[in-house]
Amino acid sequence: MYNRIARLWRQKESKDLDGADLEKLLAKIDRNRVPRHIAIIMDGNGRWANSRGLPRFFGHKAGVESLRDIVRACSEFKIQVLTVYAFSTENWKRPQEEVNVLMDLLVEYLYKEIDELCREGVKLNPIGKLDELPAGVIKALQMAVERSRTNEGLILNLALNYGGRTEIVEAVRNIASNVKKGILSIDQIDGNTISGYLYTSGQPDPDLLIRPSGDFRISNFLLWQLAYTEFWLTPVLWPDFRRVHLMRAIVDFQSRERRFGGLKKNNRTT
Ligand code: IPE
Ligand code: IPE
Ligand code: MG
Repeated sequence: MYNRIARLWRQKESKDLDGADLEKLLAKIDRNRVPRHIAIIMDGNGRWANSRGLPRFFGHKAGVESLRDIVRACSEFKIQVLTVYAFSTENWKRPQEEVNVLMDLLVEYLYKEIDELCREGVKLNPIGKLDELPAGVIKALQMAVERSRTNEGLILNLALNYGGRTEIVEAVRNIASNVKKGILSIDQIDGNTISGYLYTSGQPDPDLLIRPSGDFRISNFLLWQLAYTEFWLTPVLWPDFRRVHLMRAIVDFQSRERRFGGLKKNNRTT
């Protein structure tokens, strides 16, 4: 029943979504300069549902469709890493029924999608305090990680019970513990050491952060890794977010000049 209602809404709105000229956007994208790592705060599900007079649950359900489309698109664009924020360390504050719905949807997504993800070569990499998740979620994650372990395409970091501060606290604890054991000396610790102790160890930092739904904040996402990331914000709600929006974000990203604290190319200082 829920599936049908969500599908009906999408059919009704698909005209607007497909209306944009994908071909034109595609022509604008330089395939050799796509972001290596894209991070997305999948926000706005509740507002999407409420604006239709539906309970928040429908928004979460519809949001799964967006995730499917975006994972596929990132694979096609040969993005190396996609990190999606699915559940934060703060989201436990929500009513228990909503937390349950989110966990159930996640389990459903993993079992339903794993074949397709493997066909696309996607490697699933959950990040966050995973041991605190319900047993059913842990089991589904283990299954998906195991099934996709040898895939060599897109790395899909699924941020679950994820908090940027918790991630840094865990890294600091592990660093301190290794110093105590004599594995690491204090003088050796630099930015690269810290990066290497984070959940995203070995991956490039995000080049592009996308936050849908019109809020302008990080909400405890990838605090260390976002130091020089380009932000792309849009009022489009996550359940309405499709590859056309991703492509707009990539086109915009490619028009920016990243200076990393330096100067513009050819800038005369005197
Ligand atoms: C994002 O949508 C999903 C999660 C945080 C798990 P929200 O549920 O935050 O939707 P809004 O922001 O209330 O619209
Ligand atoms: C961020 O969205 C977390 C996820 C999308 C999983 P929230 O809706 O929880 O963030 P706030 O409360 O607006 O900062
Ligand atoms: Mg929100």
